[in-house]
Amino acid sequence: MADSKAKEVTATNGAQAAGEGTEPKPLWGGRFSAAPTGELERFGASLPFDKRMWRQDIRGSKAHAAMLAHQGVISAEDERLIREGLDEIAGEIERGEFSFDVDRDEDIHMAIERVLTERVGPAGGRLHTGRSRNDQTAVDTHMIARDLADEVLEAIAKMQAVVLERAEGEFGVVMPGYTHMQPAQPVLLSHHLLAYFWMLDRDFRRFQAARAAANRCPLGSAALAGTTYPLDRQMTSAALGFDAATNNSMDSVSDRDYLLDFIYAASVCQVHLSRLCEELVIWSTAEFAFVEMDDAHSTGSSIMPQKKNPDFAELVRGKSGRVAGDLMGLLMTVKGTPLTYDKDLQEDKEPLFDAADTVLGSLMACTGMLATCAFKDERLREASHEGYMAATDLADYLVGKGLPFRQAHAVVGRIVGDCVREGVTLQQLTTDELRSYSELFEGDAHAALDIDNIVRRRTTYGGTGHDAVKVQLEEAKAAYGRNEAALAR
Ligand code: ARG
Repeated sequence: MADSKAKEVTATNGAQAAGEGTEPKPLWGGRFSAAPTGELERFGASLPFDKRMWRQDIRGSKAHAAMLAHQGVISAEDERLIREGLDEIAGEIERGEFSFDVDRDEDIHMAIERVLTERVGPAGGRLHTGRSRNDQTAVDTHMIARDLADEVLEAIAKMQAVVLERAEGEFGVVMPGYTHMQPAQPVLLSHHLLAYFWMLDRDFRRFQAARAAANRCPLGSAALAGTTYPLDRQMTSAALGFDAATNNSMDSVSDRDYLLDFIYAASVCQVHLSRLCEELVIWSTAEFAFVEMDDAHSTGSSIMPQKKNPDFAELVRGKSGRVAGDLMGLLMTVKGTPLTYDKDLQEDKEPLFDAADTVLGSLMACTGMLATCAFKDERLREASHEGYMAATDLADYLVGKGLPFRQAHAVVGRIVGDCVREGVTLQQLTTDELRSYSELFEGDAHAALDIDNIVRRRTTYGGTGHDAVKVQLEEAKAAYGRNEAALAR
């Protein structure tokens, strides 16, 4: 009994090893007598996700064929058949008429080449001359990374425009500034918002750098060593809009740095958005009530009728984990790969796409939330009087009257301690009450406690004073203008 069971299992494994009827791939069938099982084929396939690169694949193949014809490697007639066949396939994919079949094709490169060859015959078989899927997949991925960087750059600039608009519109509104999440010093809401403008501006620069890293052409590196055909790599590089051809064929087919650059830029950007969302979540609590999120950017509860939840802000915050995960994942994938191409590297596209999609969706959501939320100016002003945030300025007042700062700090510390016990604000103290702590206090001490004055006096470059923020707004507009100009190029 046990014996026959064992035999059954062996028989099944044997059938699988023999390929369960799967024919060896026509592309490399020559030296094979068996093929992986369907299950294993699907495990090894990248078609389900790399079909997203069909445009890049067709564009790359057309450029390669045109160069082969120009160099006399294939005939002009073959080039025409290839080009027309590829255009036809592009039209079908565009219209959703092309059927992708993961049981037949491992990846987008094989799917398109197979159908092309079925249609145009031997010319299709000549397309792959002097090319390997190793440089083909690399050039496609360089192109799509470049395209995705352009999309993200556009989305960042769009959000910067909204931050600028809100910062200008809310100019003059004071609010509490925090350190350690404890009330610290009052600031302008515009100043707080502009902090995010500059984060986004650095994100813009990081994505520009990632785009520049992607903008080198690996096509013509072939499998790893270059090829004996007289390829003109500069010609294909220029035709595909790259800055230049890459320098080393071995590096070219195994380099994924440009994707790490992209996903790192996405991770930092996502973390910035997450910080903004964390603030929006806190600010929209009943306890803070600094902001009211727009209805169209909030959700309700299925059981509690009173609820208005900042779901989208929370989701963006939550999604920062996955983008950081994409970065870690790809770093670990690349880490153990000896030169040159290893199948491990097929694991590069999903983290790229996931990071790009996540940061694009998050930028869209944050841009909308920020454009539509209502800041509660009166509540922000009221909160600026809580938390004894005028204490530093009161100490500075005493310093102005000649008291060393350390002593002034101690005097004001005693005042604040008493106010906390009495439950009053610093602004509620009379001049006489102040004088009971120090003879140096006079009637003008109240000006030192005025919240607007406190903000206005922070005149240092980059500070929160009204004049300094006006300068900053102009600088932000100029930076935004530069980004817009870079996108138009
Ligand atoms: N599907 C592969 C990838 O995305 C491309 C083919 C790589 N070449 C190979 N010899 N398996 O990386």
